[in-house]
Amino acid sequence: MRMVDLIRKKQEGLPLTREEIRFFTEGYVGNEIPDYQAAALLMAIWFKGMDRDETAELTFAIRDSGEKLDFSEIKGIRADKHSTGGVGDKTSLIVTPMVASCGIKVAKISGRGLGHTGGTVDKLESIPGFRTDIPKDEFTDIVNRIGIAIVGQNREVAPADKKLYALRDVTSTIDSIPLIVSSIMGKKLAADDDAIVLDVKTGSGSFMKTKEESRKLAELLVDTGKKAGKKIMALITDMDRPLGEYVGNALEVREAIETLKGNGPEDLNEICEVLSGATLMLSGDASTLEEGRRMAAKTIRDGSALRKFREMIKAQGGNPEVTEDYSLFGEAPVIRAIPAKASGFISAMDTEAIGKASLLLGAGRSTMADVIDETAGIRILKKTGDYAEKGEPAAVFYTSDERRLLDAEAVYDNALTYSAERPAPRPLILDRVE
Ligand code: URA
Repeated sequence: MRMVDLIRKKQEGLPLTREEIRFFTEGYVGNEIPDYQAAALLMAIWFKGMDRDETAELTFAIRDSGEKLDFSEIKGIRADKHSTGGVGDKTSLIVTPMVASCGIKVAKISGRGLGHTGGTVDKLESIPGFRTDIPKDEFTDIVNRIGIAIVGQNREVAPADKKLYALRDVTSTIDSIPLIVSSIMGKKLAADDDAIVLDVKTGSGSFMKTKEESRKLAELLVDTGKKAGKKIMALITDMDRPLGEYVGNALEVREAIETLKGNGPEDLNEICEVLSGATLMLSGDASTLEEGRRMAAKTIRDGSALRKFREMIKAQGGNPEVTEDYSLFGEAPVIRAIPAKASGFISAMDTEAIGKASLLLGAGRSTMADVIDETAGIRILKKTGDYAEKGEPAAVFYTSDERRLLDAEAVYDNALTYSAERPAPRPLILDRVE
């Protein structure tokens, strides 16, 4: 088999076989296929796509490229919730203790942020002492004892995705549906979960900007999960504005804690209840999503989800007192109100640009080597649909470096569109794929 023939086949829009796909992934991980040929194939896939069977084969090849996590020692139903990536998306911090306090086991492998999107591992590491790199036996033991643990992606899980993702990042081939599906599901399927709920984001802050593209992505994700024998469903949710009020690591953990206490913003509350309800339904604990949602809402009212979150912090070496004393997170030395540049209703928010503004303040990385400023980020005071008077604060910036303010403010200002008319409200949950 020759790589050059595979590239030509895909250029002509023909489907690759299972053997050809494995020849590619195994050869690439084994450093036998050079970057330039892998890049040429990715570009051919970007243009010509892949059918459902090819996408599933690429996913399984990525899953099989590294270690598979064996969770058989974890007793009970194991469920995971995964988001395709967004801005201000702290739902994993809230949904996982909600479902764990209902008895579902959550053994979660999460990612770090890259580009304009945030990552659960970075957020958790803003809790003093919290460890995300715990050994497998300790991880299993914590999940068996308290029902929940969240760790970072081990180097050995899906190494083909690690290499391919880095190559896609620099060859402008990230936004290809079969490549996104195989990347997400290749990693998810390496973990041994019974049920998976996917939160497929749509809009200006997500990889898929239109509802049609997001629906296609959701359908292919669900189809691939089913081919692997998983119970799986996807919700398509709005990312045309940031979720909640805060963007940035420690700021988002604080907002997640407030939500667990029942004081969360409406949009965040709603999405968390629905994602938890879907997880409980898929795991067999609730017969409908509505029933699951009611069970999940109760864990906020009776304080059990917050207690579960505190238990997880303690088990993973963090200081659980952060839930009562936010000063333990530390505070950014520079806090600056950002005025609205015009009077009018905010009619649109370029959410990707808001993610970039937060990154410029220090809350994210431009390369994997960058160090995160845990206290940096943004509090959004005016969101789509709100009225702003010129000069009144539209946002508050948090950073450790005053020199970062100027660039971030320019990006933030450009992200907001003002209009005389109030925009039509947009639902938060746009669709569901089962
Ligand atoms: N998240 C992933 O893990 N991979 C992608 O390709 C996109 C989002």
